[in-house]
Amino acid sequence: MIRSLRLALCALAFAFVCPAMAAGKDDVSITADLAQQGPKIDRNIFGQFAEHLGRGLYEGVWVGPDSKIPNTRGIRNDVVAALKAIKVPNVRWPGGCFADEYHWRNGIGPRDKRPPTLNPNWGGVIEPNTFGTHEFMDFVQQIGADAYISINVGSGTPAEAADWLEYLTTPQPTALAKERAANGHPAPYPVALLGIGNESWGCGGSMTPDEYVNHLKVYARYARNYNAAQPMRRIAVGPDGADTGYTEAVMKAWKNKTWAWDIEGLSLHSYTVVKWPPSFKATGFGESEYATILKATLNMESLVSTHSAVMDQYDPDRKIALVVDEWGAWLAPTPGSPEGFLEQQNSQRDALVAALNLNIFARHAARVRAANIAQMVNVLQAMIFTRQEKMVLTPTYHVFHMYVPFQDATLVPLQFQAGSWKAGDVELPRVDAIAARDAAGKLWVALTNLDPGRVARIDLTLPGKPVTRANGQVLAAPKMDSVNSFEAPAVVAPKPYAAKVTGKRVAAELAPASITVIGLE
Ligand code: AHR
Repeated sequence: MIRSLRLALCALAFAFVCPAMAAGKDDVSITADLAQQGPKIDRNIFGQFAEHLGRGLYEGVWVGPDSKIPNTRGIRNDVVAALKAIKVPNVRWPGGCFADEYHWRNGIGPRDKRPPTLNPNWGGVIEPNTFGTHEFMDFVQQIGADAYISINVGSGTPAEAADWLEYLTTPQPTALAKERAANGHPAPYPVALLGIGNESWGCGGSMTPDEYVNHLKVYARYARNYNAAQPMRRIAVGPDGADTGYTEAVMKAWKNKTWAWDIEGLSLHSYTVVKWPPSFKATGFGESEYATILKATLNMESLVSTHSAVMDQYDPDRKIALVVDEWGAWLAPTPGSPEGFLEQQNSQRDALVAALNLNIFARHAARVRAANIAQMVNVLQAMIFTRQEKMVLTPTYHVFHMYVPFQDATLVPLQFQAGSWKAGDVELPRVDAIAARDAAGKLWVALTNLDPGRVARIDLTLPGKPVTRANGQVLAAPKMDSVNSFEAPAVVAPKPYAAKVTGKRVAAELAPASITVIGLE
């Protein structure tokens, strides 16, 4: 009890240091290999996912132009401002499972004439189609992100997908371009990423890998981008977790492809879920559940390595990106929330889940060149919760904010022994870390202390680089399951942090279960 109280006070007061928690002999030494130039950390690994699911888009993004909630053309201003601040590089839409049942024509034209349809995947609710193509493109333009559109392979046709792409991207005065202009947008839209189906091994059609490859070749040929100003990367459906069947089949087909089709990416979906149906509590958990979830999330390392190794066999030059376009914690739903809406609270543990995954993607930056956390607002491991006119930022949001300097930065390899700690039978590393140099040459380090019970003292050596200042932010919390709520929105919020600098060494003390990002000058 006294220990937890001390930890809670320490975490709260952790703006600078917490000397009472000195760990001495367990210091973790980290050396940055400044002579080595790593790959670029593609800003697209910080992508978001927005599906027609629960309150993710309706209320979370779209309130309509007549709403009392301040909005721009129906899109809520508070959510746009928050997303702009984390520099969202791309948003994947309209799903998810929803995408393979989505017919784009239902979502264009006058909003009061659009047909209500059904959303059988997510609560069986009515889909009003008021948020459609133009609303989505307006939204991504408002937040400064690229569009990642997922086309319907499961229940659509190649002609439907081809028409949608022509409608979106052609600058020529075709009938579809004229229809787009009549609907308010004469200029072609930019589509940066195109998903060719979603989970075609599951909700997207239960296809075998070879069945999917047959579809892929057709859609990759006909769903054309006509907007020369915006190159479009086509992303094939890839593996479900560790199963390499899709990876093998798609990469083999790509290696033997003809001139008539091509792809630029392969998708991987993997949630931190432990077991189905998702039953781990979002709050009110103990050290054992905390450790089990973190252990499960660290499995991303082995998944990315496994699929990268298969891809290397067919594509040693790494032309095809591995795109982890669904990841995040999938926990037990919030009690009382509507069935199928996938609403869950977001705690300091989720912040660590985010940081650990982003670190894995960054270390694999040569192959992992895009990723999308599921999902952006009100669904699963969300950045933002809304309740009518109120908005709250989650601990996960703060991690994305703190990691902005890593967008398009160059990875700097780190050497360190992470140490370990145990909760029952579950053994985990004590710390995790990445470093990168931004475009201006400034070095950034992100340090995660996984241990919820002990401060981690870091001794960071930067050979050949004298440092004068090491300032940044720390995200710590009174408890590992602390959350932000509408009533108390800033329980988990970043605080300024200053590490101690001596010549080429930096000494940092990391609060229990915390994330610290430091810029070195
Ligand atoms: O993110 C929720 C769902 O999870 C997506 O719709 C689907 O692709 C995945 O199974």
